[in-house]
Amino acid sequence: VTLAERSLAAVADHIKSGKARRIVVMTGAGISTAAGIPDFRSPETGLYANLAALNLPEPEAVFDLDFFKKNPKPFYVLAKDLYPGTFHPTVSHVFISLLASKGLLAQLFTQNIDCLERTAGIPGELIVEAHGSFASQRCIDCKTPFPDDKMREHVARAEVPRCIRSEADGDDRCDGLVKPDIVFFHEALPSLFYERRGLTETADLALVLGTSLSVHPFAGLPDMVPEPVPRVLFNMERVGSLGTQADDVLVLGDCDTGVRKLADALGWRDELEAKWRE
Ligand code: OAD
Repeated sequence: VTLAERSLAAVADHIKSGKARRIVVMTGAGISTAAGIPDFRSPETGLYANLAALNLPEPEAVFDLDFFKKNPKPFYVLAKDLYPGTFHPTVSHVFISLLASKGLLAQLFTQNIDCLERTAGIPGELIVEAHGSFASQRCIDCKTPFPDDKMREHVARAEVPRCIRSEADGDDRCDGLVKPDIVFFHEALPSLFYERRGLTETADLALVLGTSLSVHPFAGLPDMVPEPVPRVLFNMERVGSLGTQADDVLVLGDCDTGVRKLADALGWRDELEAKWRE
């Protein structure tokens, strides 16, 4: 399939003609900025530019396991701003949900930890949360799960939770640090990521939205999509190898605007807006 014209209209035709039935979507923090959640690397507004007050050796230390063991407080200051529960999915999330409801979504790979994919109604089995999420948490030493309600209270006060395992349970007291099941640097990605990443090789269309593609192994996913399968980038800036293959389409600018244009070209715009307002 050659996209003679590198445009959204050509992408829409590819979908409407029935040639794209196994769409793989890859996302990052940029799809959630419109929901009010900062991304990481945008120069002025990104979290890494705004961590100076926390006296970190470098901004990424906030997600570094060795640093967390020595000083967990900065992570919990950040967690207070990122914690799910008060945010509403964006038009981009809802568009992915629309693809799922039309049976066209083969898999969504997200780096986001905000759980907005599930909130937007994308079925759990179609989501790979490659960097984990805030949905659960446990002790980093003995792995004892920590209750959700207690976690919410701790995060709201930016307090570091400690393991609940005690002598009363017939065990030794633990008191280890509790951490959400988010993938920190030096930690393995969930096995589901490795089980499912091969789906990028069988995709008939790839959409990449809101990511700087700077963290591996996630950043390698778009390169697994075989030519000449079209890859479409919805992002503020050009990233990774997107734009180097003949059938790549670059939709630069904010992703909700780009997605709305694609929905227009597909004749899905009213459905998209209605679902977004639900
Ligand atoms: P980044 O902050 O690195 O990149 C976000 C990308 O989205 C940038 O290219 C922005 O230009 C773009 N962007 C921002 N707002 C946008 C908008 N409204 N529309 C379109 N594009 C927009 O975020 P990620 O790529 O997700 O790890 O970062 C990857 C990982 O680095 C994260 O998962 C996180 C971090 O360390 C963990 O949380 C473990």
